Amino acid sequence: LPVTTIPVPLDRTLDAPYDVVVGRGILTELPQLLRERCPAHRYAIITDSRVGTLYADRVAALLIDAGLRAATFAFPAGEWNKVRQTWADLTDRLVETGVGRDAAIIALGGGVVGDMAGFVAATLHRGIPYAQVPTTVLAMIDASVGGKTGLDLPAGKNLVGAFHQPRFVLADINTLATLPRPHLAGGCAEAIKHGVIADRAYAEAVGSWARACLARDAAALERLVERSVRIKAEIVAADVAERGRRQVLNFGHTVGHAVEARSGYGLLHGEAVAIGMAVEARLAETVGVAEPGTRAQLLDLLARFDLPTVLPPTLDAADLLEAMRHDKKARAGALRFALPKTLGVMAQSADGEWTVEIGSDEILAALKATRAPDVSPTI
Ligand SMILES: NC(=O)c1ccc[n+]([C@@H]2O[C@H](COP(=O)([O-])OP(=O)(O)OC[C@H]3O[C@@H](n4cnc5c(N)ncnc54)[C@H](O)[C@@H]3O)[C@@H](O)[C@H]2O)c1
Ligand SMILES: [Zn+2]
Repeated sequence: LPVTTIPVPLDRTLDAPYDVVVGRGILTELPQLLRERCPAHRYAIITDSRVGTLYADRVAALLIDAGLRAATFAFPAGEWNKVRQTWADLTDRLVETGVGRDAAIIALGGGVVGDMAGFVAATLHRGIPYAQVPTTVLAMIDASVGGKTGLDLPAGKNLVGAFHQPRFVLADINTLATLPRPHLAGGCAEAIKHGVIADRAYAEAVGSWARACLARDAAALERLVERSVRIKAEIVAADVAERGRRQVLNFGHTVGHAVEARSGYGLLHGEAVAIGMAVEARLAETVGVAEPGTRAQLLDLLARFDLPTVLPPTLDAADLLEAMRHDKKARAGALRFALPKTLGVMAQSADGEWTVEIGSDEILAALKATRAPDVSPTI
């Protein structure tokens, strides 16, 4: 089977580098990869209820047929289950069934599973090995690369977690055949972000593949996953040397996280990030960081995936600003944004930072200008 292998070259003094393996129909390669790169006496497949129904039996059968010991542990699907109770239930079940230090974990699912299973692997017996088998676009191109694991608290997303690098990531594009369309488009918002922050030609290519990707064309999705993973891997690796370049990955996310939280998670992460990029690109133009027209080009790309680019009228600008201030990424009160200069190039401030400080008035103005007109009838 043709596979593409993308190395994630980490700082070797801290973590072993690992590969992201991308291809179509390559789930069958999992037993061999486990034997070579994640050897263990038994494997715990952690998944959610939805992905579990679709793929867990097949994955478990592949492992067992290859002579490996494997059992599945599913938790209910949904971001609201990425919480301490799920971690408590999973770790209890794993220990009760005798999953010891000599075991390894397989995270089979989207970003919720990746974060949860990764955090279980980071903490159980003070850390056991794991492999990522992402099944959403978002998990393939974003969540499974970089080693961040964790869970949500009532006070906010991802407030508890650990860095724990997987032994490898296996992305089988064929699993995307069953992914619901909103999740497909939402994941592609992150691919557009990758183009904006690093590679204009890629941003334009993603736009040209939109129809094919939404139709779940495997060749188009494979190219998108491959190139996005390369960009994310390169940025994550470069951060060791280049101070704070990793911050560019946050484009669209300062506003996006606030929109996501204040919408009560009614919007998907990728949808909130699409809106966030639209607001932040407006900011970039109004403060004179971005070339005029940059935002229009971005909006065109997002529109091809039918992604939202305006704030829902129910969200209040001052309230969103408040939410941004509470986000853990806000340093010392002042809000800083990773902003594009043009498609493919991010702005760097005079002091070498990859973020730009923006005043509250400008943020409020950009939020208000990116609002959908309130269409509720007036009497
Ligand atoms: N660790 C990181 O660096 C990082 C980066 C980005 C996002 N994240 C996290 O990722 C999460 C979002 O990930 P997500 O969008 O993949 O959400 P998700 O894991 O909730 O998956 C979305 C939905 O699709 C279902 N699903 C998954 N794969 C499927 C498939 N192949 N076919 C049919 N249904 C499928 C899931 O059961 C779920 O209902 C958030 O919690 C976010 O914080 C983490
Ligand atoms: Zn994101």
